[in-house]
Amino acid sequence: MLKEYIKGRLPAIDEALDRFLPLTNYPSHIFEAMRYSVFAGGKRLRPILLMAAAEAVGKSGSAFINVACGMEMIHTYSLIHDDLPAMDNDDLRRGKPTNHKVFGEAVAILAGDGLLTEAFKVMLAQPNVAPEILVTVVGEIAAAAGAMGMVGGQTIDLMAEGKTIDGETLKRMHQAKTGALFKAAIRSGARLAGASGVKLAALTEYAEQFGLAFQITDDILDVVGVEEKIGKPLGSDVKNNKVTYVSLYSLEGAKKMADEAVDRAINALDDFGDEATILRDFVHYLVNRDS
Ligand code: IPE
Ligand code: IPE
Ligand code: MG
Ligand code: MG
Ligand code: MG
Repeated sequence: MLKEYIKGRLPAIDEALDRFLPLTNYPSHIFEAMRYSVFAGGKRLRPILLMAAAEAVGKSGSAFINVACGMEMIHTYSLIHDDLPAMDNDDLRRGKPTNHKVFGEAVAILAGDGLLTEAFKVMLAQPNVAPEILVTVVGEIAAAAGAMGMVGGQTIDLMAEGKTIDGETLKRMHQAKTGALFKAAIRSGARLAGASGVKLAALTEYAEQFGLAFQITDDILDVVGVEEKIGKPLGSDVKNNKVTYVSLYSLEGAKKMADEAVDRAINALDDFGDEATILRDFVHYLVNRDS
């Protein structure tokens, strides 16, 4: 069911991303570089979750395609920069050579900058949403991507290289570098669809636990994944002396903590009925994924 759900939404997301990043724009070279990573084969989890959250509160998720694609553009930018030699120095992403390997470091930096900036143009052009709601939602996405969100988390990640940090700091790092964008995607879908109060709070709790379980699983896959399936090099974290859930708690400990976060995510949806089935399926998929 989740598989069909995801498959059903991918074409509209790809069609819209294609429309938002046309190669006919000048200078085409930067669009070529941005498109290279955007269309390299990502799972599109953030836009799909945004849509699923909107559907959990009774609206059609595809109505919010601009904001959904904006989230994917911001995420893709974060990956391009994460792979740069000055950061994780990885050669493979989404099963293909990383952006800087193909376009060079300077253009890869600009491709990231371009995606981040274009994302806000695309999101602010979202039709059919009251301007005051759109402004709040996009503001929250900016905060999630920024220095107290993803960028902040990436900074903690770099500063922790080769050091020991405590579990609380590791959790905060994960919440910021990965959790913030997931939380923004889910909350944005809910808010664009008109959610507030108890429902929004429940989806927020779900999102926080989802994000945590997701990054713990990412840490696990860096150790036990299959490179052809995850599409990125194994052992990147060990190579870079990263503190991860696996390095701090062992493989077994990390798995247990991911499972606990999954349980908390599912519990958060207690007051929802069938309309949240996809969100429930998503968390189970998340810890059992191999890519
Ligand atoms: C990978 O995210 C980077 C992290 C935040 C851990 P995804 O696993 O969603 O990557 P893609 O979008 O499918 O490539
Ligand atoms: C970085 O985490 C997540 C981002 C904000 C890009 P990782 O460095 O673990 O992501 P991967 O494993 O390279 O995708
Ligand atoms: Mg990294
Ligand atoms: Mg990395
Ligand atoms: Mg990783």
